Amino acid sequence: MGPRKFLLATITTVSVLLHMFPYANSEPIALPPEAAYGPAAESSDAGAPELSPGPPPMVFDVDDYGASAGGDATEAFLAAWKDACNSSDDPSLFLVPEGKTYLLMPLSFSGPCRATAITAMIRGTLEAPSNRSVWLDGDRQERWITFEDVDGLHVMGGGTLNGHGQEWWVNSCKVNKSMRCVAGPTALYFRSCNHLVVDDLEVKDSMQMHVVIAYCWKAAVSRLFVTAPGWSPNTDGIHVSNSREVSITNCIISTGDDCISIVSGSECVRASGIYCGPGHGISIGSLGANKSRAHVSDVLVEKATLVGTTNGVRIKTWQGGEGSAERITFQDIKMYNVTNPIIIDQNYCDSKKPCSEQDSAVAISGIRYNKIHGTSSSKVAVKFICSNAVHCDGIVMQDVSLVGQGHRLTCSSVNARVITPGFNSPYCRSDM
Ligand SMILES: *[C@@H]1O[C@H](CO)[C@@H](O)[C@H](O)[C@H]1NC(C)=O
Ligand SMILES: *[C@@H]1O[C@H](CO)[C@@H](O)[C@H](O)[C@H]1NC(C)=O
Ligand SMILES: *[C@@H]1O[C@H](CO)[C@@H](O)[C@H](O)[C@H]1NC(C)=O
Ligand SMILES: *[C@@H]1O[C@H](CO)[C@@H](O)[C@H](O)[C@H]1NC(C)=O
Ligand SMILES: *[C@@H]1O[C@H](CO)[C@@H](O)[C@H](O)[C@H]1NC(C)=O
Repeated sequence: MGPRKFLLATITTVSVLLHMFPYANSEPIALPPEAAYGPAAESSDAGAPELSPGPPPMVFDVDDYGASAGGDATEAFLAAWKDACNSSDDPSLFLVPEGKTYLLMPLSFSGPCRATAITAMIRGTLEAPSNRSVWLDGDRQERWITFEDVDGLHVMGGGTLNGHGQEWWVNSCKVNKSMRCVAGPTALYFRSCNHLVVDDLEVKDSMQMHVVIAYCWKAAVSRLFVTAPGWSPNTDGIHVSNSREVSITNCIISTGDDCISIVSGSECVRASGIYCGPGHGISIGSLGANKSRAHVSDVLVEKATLVGTTNGVRIKTWQGGEGSAERITFQDIKMYNVTNPIIIDQNYCDSKKPCSEQDSAVAISGIRYNKIHGTSSSKVAVKFICSNAVHCDGIVMQDVSLVGQGHRLTCSSVNARVITPGFNSPYCRSDM
């Protein structure tokens, strides 16, 4: 079964799961203005795999550059990219044909380009070397496939990127405690790409993170199918960093770390129609590591289904950081057998050494939880663990209804100001 058929089958499964939670009588909630979150106009564009009408594109087929000769296709891809990028004919189409497999070493498709509209149509399969020494020898590369400094880029086509990350996972310090901790490469990295559209791709078995959006403005990411085993360490699905106006829609993400993580420097990010599991849930953070200053604001996560994840919707910050995480809304979320459905953790510590108490923290305020329903596999379904130094302020819970599987659920709230209009279960008492 091809990835697209599988996508459809999975979406069907998701809708079946959604029907397992028939909750009525939810109060209508005033939605934040859509326009504030990502390029709404562009996301409809992103849903259509066809190229926009206009002059026919100039096609740069990697096979015409010798990519199909077998073996390492890296040089052929770079030669095709060079011509596509600097083509004087607009639009320009960089084509990876269907039904073929290409081995690619770490490489960067860089701009700026002369062509103002470039589509990378990936129909075939791209494979990373499974031999980890490619990365460890010589210059250490932290990415496999990078698109950098390209404006108006569309990447689509229904193809597959396979990171062959197994060697990275078994040698990770999280899996084998006697190994040294080394940062592993990201499979698909977008850096400084404004007006970016990424649509309809499968990204699997990355060494570490699967897709990173960094330093981009106006990015629409849709219909990604991201998979890696639940035990694979640090394999975040989609990671957003230092980017503004980003939308992530209709994605299926099953990995060993956060399905979506949104970190410092990100503003106006909307994630909608996300299936997540297995994985660590949808996270803001971590923020403020190594006493850094972090800022994340105006995030909307809606219409998500989380199945069997270790966290549901999470905000995590390290002690000792500075800055803020504010105006973050989680709404219309279904949870099924999630361990920590709702969690704010201002004492996050993902290090071998324990983290000591610090007198500063990333401030957390204006956090809304609306219409969150489903089941929790742990007893404490809602946790607001806020720091003694900087309390959490303005947490609003409305129509949260979580049930246990044979046990009564509770809410644990420390240093948090919580407002609960209407009925919520479990009930959170504001402890301030
Ligand atoms: C495109 O042309 C510019 C100017 O000649 C050059 O600096 C750039 O490296 C070229 N891009 C690629 C990908 O070859
Ligand atoms: C991996 O690559 C290194 C050198 O780059 C080579 O010595 C080694 O034999 C390769 N291992 C496998 C399993 O191909
Ligand atoms: C962990 O790493 C050590 C050192 O490289 C190796 O000897 C050992 O076999 C590994 N353990 C497992 C379970 O893979
Ligand atoms: C914090 O800094 C240390 C030392 O520079 C580094 O090893 C570690 O990776 C950093 N941690 C994070 C989460 O950035
Ligand atoms: C729920 O998740 C736990 C692990 O968190 C797992 O052991 C258990 O089998 C799951 N239950 C169901 C009904 O899926």
